[in-house]
Amino acid sequence: MAEPGTGESGGDAAAAGQGTPALGVLVSGRGSNLRAILDAIERRELAARVGIVISSRTGVPALDIAAAHDIPTRVIAPRDYPSRAEEGAAIVAALRGAGVELVVLAGYARIFDPSVVRAYPHHILNIHPSLLPAFAGGMAPKPQADALAAGVKLSGCTVHFVTDEVDAGPIVAQAVVPVLDDDTVERLAERILAAEHRLLPEAIRRVLEGHPRVEGRRVLFDQG
Ligand code: GRF
Repeated sequence: MAEPGTGESGGDAAAAGQGTPALGVLVSGRGSNLRAILDAIERRELAARVGIVISSRTGVPALDIAAAHDIPTRVIAPRDYPSRAEEGAAIVAALRGAGVELVVLAGYARIFDPSVVRAYPHHILNIHPSLLPAFAGGMAPKPQADALAAGVKLSGCTVHFVTDEVDAGPIVAQAVVPVLDDDTVERLAERILAAEHRLLPEAIRRVLEGHPRVEGRRVLFDQG
């Protein structure tokens, strides 16, 4: 990987992490996917560090998880910026300041200004709780509720590169879970979430180590 941000040549930020790629994780709420990333790092399944956690909301559990791991946090809330472009510029500045190489949206409830996507082309991952392109758009639990209502027998989650079109970027990895006859939205969402917690750290590892290349809508890996 490397390139966007200051990454491997990121001076102080890189030195602080002894050359380990820095992730910037964006959150808005519960933070269970952030926790899954941190757990995978602690288990040494993922050779990365979280350089910064940026939240669009104050007082959310994800910020407490970051603080408990001594990870620098920033709240960049839409109401504090006169425009989406200025909010985006603040996000890019915070990510670059932390030497972030790969950005991960883990329950981030905002749509970026296009300038953020341009600053990190194919270096922003999002996790969505459906098998895209089915049930795109909307925050959890809408995609899970839509899948249940549609009567599909399989659902799951998708990690994809972020582009300007919501939930439509090239797909990096997917995991499938069954939809059971006695499922409620909550039960299905819980089963999908457990799959997310396995998929997201693994997808990050593949992107960092596998030299992904994007051909049209496809993401192809040389290795990893
Ligand atoms: C997850 O279901 C994720 O797929 C979606 O938002 C939810 C975030 O959950 N984008 P958490 O904050 O990581 O617990």
